[in-house]
Amino acid sequence: MRTVKLQRSQTAQGPLILVNAAHPLADSLDPQLAPPDALHPDVLLERQAAQLLSACVQAAGGWTDIVPVSGWRSLAEQRFIWADTWDKEGEAFTRKYVALPRCSEHQTGLAIDLGEKAEHIDFIRPHFPENGPCGQFRRLAADYGFVQRYRREKEAVTGIAEEPWHFRYVGAPHARLMEDHGLCLEEYGDFLRAGPKTCALPNGRRVTASYLPCPGGETELEVPDNACFQISGHNDGGFIVTLWEAVS
Ligand code: DAL
Ligand code: ZN
Repeated sequence: MRTVKLQRSQTAQGPLILVNAAHPLADSLDPQLAPPDALHPDVLLERQAAQLLSACVQAAGGWTDIVPVSGWRSLAEQRFIWADTWDKEGEAFTRKYVALPRCSEHQTGLAIDLGEKAEHIDFIRPHFPENGPCGQFRRLAADYGFVQRYRREKEAVTGIAEEPWHFRYVGAPHARLMEDHGLCLEEYGDFLRAGPKTCALPNGRRVTASYLPCPGGETELEVPDNACFQISGHNDGGFIVTLWEAVS
């Protein structure tokens, strides 16, 4: 076994951070970005999320029918979108469909709005249907680590209206667990706090996800030698630990 030391400041970073009005982003976030679609070089995602989104879209038939509409946003861009939408559509619409600046997961580079290719695509609410290539993307998304982040039945929990176009990268084991248990990201931390959870991935590997609180300035984690693991902050004062079962 070996010991990994973790600082509380690290709870604000990683692919499983919760970002909403009650969990704003840390100023220190500085994601490495890449375009998932070379034909839209201005739409960027965090590098690993970009690769997996690209792979998922390819498996769903390619970028012929699917358009990346909005990926990473700077704080200035989120501020502009908030103010512009407020001016054009009013307060109620803005609060339903635009996250407060500092509280948008678009600022992490882990969220993407996708639209069905069309002559006119609405920037705030792109159409992304259940059928055709978009539907195929939806069916594959969890295997590539993406979840539809804002569902109608979770509006009271997320504080955001249903957004069938907004996908969040969380990683394949977590997307699978969230889908299988009908959980949004706000609920996922509590689910893991109740005890570690195991899931089987389509490639046959088993993965255990658990929650590690960090009540003080730092905490420690014991991991098996040679283990394949990931530690992500959850932006709520704790970490989500992912441990892949060793291949025998
Ligand atoms: N549309 C989502 C909520 C955002 O602005 O981050
Ligand atoms: Zn979005």
